[in-house]
Amino acid sequence: MSQVTEYSEKVMDHFTNPRNVGEIENPSGVGTVGNAKCGDIMRMYLDIDDNGIIREAKFKTFGCGAAVATSSMATELVKGKSIQEALEITNRAVMEALGGLPPVKVHCSLLAEEAIHAALWDYAQKNNIVIEGLKPPVSDIGEKEE
Ligand code: FES
Repeated sequence: MSQVTEYSEKVMDHFTNPRNVGEIENPSGVGTVGNAKCGDIMRMYLDIDDNGIIREAKFKTFGCGAAVATSSMATELVKGKSIQEALEITNRAVMEALGGLPPVKVHCSLLAEEAIHAALWDYAQKNNIVIEGLKPPVSDIGEKEE
């Protein structure tokens, strides 16, 4: 992906008109992640059916524009996916779907990836199952930045 120095049209669209904002009542899984460096927080709600397909995804993000845009795109990407497919949605995939992010904003997309993982972790805990390849969420993803 070439380096992006400003926000793409898609980022601006998902920032000004975010999809799937809100909460799910009695979600199958809910995960909250934050980055202590910038103070941004993202909460992701998932509704997963008996076949393990994500039917609904909603989010609440208290953070920068890129965090809002990546949460919005992440909820769009996980909908209709199986748990394993959702697990494979990386921050890079979210960024690519948005047409890229400026380098200083790459960490914002990590919040989206981690919020999906945290919500799946909660789902696994509630249902007493092990999701292969899923690691326990970290509360401060700032620690994970390269
Ligand atoms: Fe922290 Fe964007 S500045 S998530």
